[in-house]
Amino acid sequence: MNVTVFGTGYVGLVQGAILADVGHHVVCVDVDAEKVERLTQGHIPIYEPGLESLVRENFASGRLEFTTDSEAGVKHGQVQFIAVGTPPDEDGSADLKYVLAVAQTIAEHMDRKQIIINKSTVPVGTADKVRACITEKLADRGQGDLQFDVVSNPEFLKEGSAVADCQKPDRIIIGTENEATIEVMRELYAPFNRNHDKVIIMDVRSAELTKYAANCMLATKISFMNEIANLSERLGADIEMVRQGIGSDPRIGYHFIYPGVGYGGSCFPKDVQALIRASDNIDFDAKVLKAVEARNYEQKTTLFEKIARHYDNDLAGKTFALWGLSFKPSTDDMREAPSRVLMEALWQAGAKVQAYDPEAMEETQRLYGNRDDLTLCGTKESALKGADALVIVTEWQSFRAPDFAALSRELRQPVIFDGRNMFEPVRMIDKGFTYYSVGRQPVQHG
Ligand code: UDX
Repeated sequence: MNVTVFGTGYVGLVQGAILADVGHHVVCVDVDAEKVERLTQGHIPIYEPGLESLVRENFASGRLEFTTDSEAGVKHGQVQFIAVGTPPDEDGSADLKYVLAVAQTIAEHMDRKQIIINKSTVPVGTADKVRACITEKLADRGQGDLQFDVVSNPEFLKEGSAVADCQKPDRIIIGTENEATIEVMRELYAPFNRNHDKVIIMDVRSAELTKYAANCMLATKISFMNEIANLSERLGADIEMVRQGIGSDPRIGYHFIYPGVGYGGSCFPKDVQALIRASDNIDFDAKVLKAVEARNYEQKTTLFEKIARHYDNDLAGKTFALWGLSFKPSTDDMREAPSRVLMEALWQAGAKVQAYDPEAMEETQRLYGNRDDLTLCGTKESALKGADALVIVTEWQSFRAPDFAALSRELRQPVIFDGRNMFEPVRMIDKGFTYYSVGRQPVQHG
């Protein structure tokens, strides 16, 4: 099938590549000429396991093309994906300007029946807006009888496993009531719809809300667990035991109940906020979502508070080794990353940071530039040298079994603040550390 994808961000690029890989002929359109040029040279703007080789192979085979020529793009596809960003505007609502600009472009150039597939995370009612925009533009062109359908087909990929998530989706949500469109969508996704039928057909508004509901439910699980972790600390309980105790109930499950330093990334913070704003706009008070957001905001400062308390609020002149800058492992993404809140609070208090991350060093440099109170270190070991304590913010695999003897040697004091519960407190006492974690009692050697 001939497919056009507008937007070569996370969602669009991965979607384009996996569709090309199963044999569809995909043209990806982006307004950013430099990005398009780099993509044609095989340079991927994001770190995502497996994506680079997938893009290169399919580009070489001619099944995947990149262009800034939107007219050629529209003419190529039998279906047109909209996969552009929906950044929050000033009040946290999803800004639809890029989505509607693509709708305009499609309407300007389409010359046959089209299926427009919305992959971006968009508020309920967006498909109607896209439809109205295209109808108006077609009427202006005197092409009012050209047929089209607008489908909501949300994406559920996770950063760090985006390729695998798209190749093996849990579900394929198709929001349309048009039978002919459903047939085309089934054909498009047939290569990914194996073992059992993963396609769930629904009306367009329910599909749009499904995406927000999924992310908000996951964010709720995390904020809930962070709340219980805070309680655990104060009540003398151990959140890791509580987590296992409740996770064993299949109605609760073990997934997404890890306490930590708060959720970050490009989806949860933005989507929770957007659904709150959408609720406010229809005079509905989304009490649960507001609490989820408030808990997450506070959770991001808890690690700093533990550090400040340990040093009696006197952090001026102290140096902290910081492991993990990206908002989660296997990505270089630092959007809404808890590490940023922590670093900024440490700097505010007059402390210095020696930071290391396996992937996000360039991004950190880009965000913060050169400053006296930030040293970007080439290895996790070099970040420790002369630091007063180690702070772990992101749970990269390579942090799980450090050389504890070297750690004690390099740090001025054997103190670890762990925002991800990477280690067993009793073992840390044996190894001679003072160890702070989340939802558990701090332990002290000696
Ligand atoms: C998320 C959704 O998982 C995905 O389905 C959707 O399409 C996009 O948003 P992503 O943002 O890539 O994906 O990351 P995810 O792995 O979900 O983690 C989000 C945040 O929650 C991270 O900051 C992570 O550290 C945090 N988290 C996750 C926890 O604090 N505890 C958990 O138990 C799980």
